[in-house]
Amino acid sequence: MNINVTAATGSLGSRVVRELLRQDANVTASVRSPAKASDLAEQGVTVRRGDFEDRESLVEAFADTDVLLVIPSLAPVEVRVGQFRNTLDAAKQAGVGRIVLVGFAATSPESQFHIAPFYLYAESRLRLSGLDWTISRDGMYLDPVADWVPELIRMGRLPYPVQKGRVAYVCRDDLARALAAACLKEECSQKVYNLTGPEALSMPELAATISRVVGQEVPFDLVSEEEFVRICQAENEPEEMIAVLTSMYRAVDNGEFANVTSDIEDLTGRPPETVESYLRRRWEEQ
Ligand SMILES: NC(=O)c1ccc[n+]([C@@H]2O[C@H](COP(=O)([O-])OP(=O)(O)OC[C@H]3O[C@@H](n4cnc5c(N)ncnc54)[C@H](OP(=O)(O)O)[C@@H]3O)[C@@H](O)[C@H]2O)c1
Repeated sequence: MNINVTAATGSLGSRVVRELLRQDANVTASVRSPAKASDLAEQGVTVRRGDFEDRESLVEAFADTDVLLVIPSLAPVEVRVGQFRNTLDAAKQAGVGRIVLVGFAATSPESQFHIAPFYLYAESRLRLSGLDWTISRDGMYLDPVADWVPELIRMGRLPYPVQKGRVAYVCRDDLARALAAACLKEECSQKVYNLTGPEALSMPELAATISRVVGQEVPFDLVSEEEFVRICQAENEPEEMIAVLTSMYRAVDNGEFANVTSDIEDLTGRPPETVESYLRRRWEEQ
């Protein structure tokens, strides 16, 4: 079986490729910039140019593909819609068997998350495409929390505009294991998976966990959206990304990330890592 991974130079895609290679799969990487993928080629991966903006490049990149893992880019909604249309059209033309779509937990018509319209569109278009499909709705990444820990220590607080919401954080390593399994297992056809961590933490619980890991108090600080925006601006986040992040924390308070499932363990035979275990691992690597 030939598995083709889009966005394979990214943080998630490269982990899925590594997991597939570990399981001796035939892997092709469809990437925007093949020059960035020399490490993948060295590992025996077939690297092809596949730019979501260039339909013809995708048709060539998707040749001889049984299962195509689609990891959308981080572009704004309208751009992503065009990119996904290109991807589906090219997959059909290239004769792809099944598409595994990397979606997001915040996918409902009531979602507060600004990118939800893209995920609604993508899921619906895929189901109606005539291609075989699997949909993964991924939980919120835990990795950026670990990246932020040194700055949190400097600030002496965990500032989020979240009053009551809980988040079943999940790390990219566990998502990659589950996505690799979803590509490899034919029984995943026409199924939706909700890939979450093993527990849903409130923000005070997350702050207490960080404090235990780093050995000093980093209390939760409930901040207004305006203050959260100022904090992000001080860290040079682009304005578009700040708007996306702010809407994501509204979605947290809307309960959109609190669901906990056993889907990662069901797919891989191993439970996902807890927040404390992951943060400790990252802290000890520093
Ligand atoms: N679960 C969460 O909390 C969460 C958070 C953030 C994002 N996400 C989602 O996770 C996915 C990516 O995550 P990531 O962590 O791997 O991000 P990342 O490390 O920033 O990788 C983004 C990837 O998209 C590729 N890309 C961008 N534009 C492209 C184009 N026009 N054609 C083909 N490839 C293109 C990039 O290629 P280059 O190397 O050439 O730039 C790169 O490989 C996205 O679908 C995003 O919506 C999830």
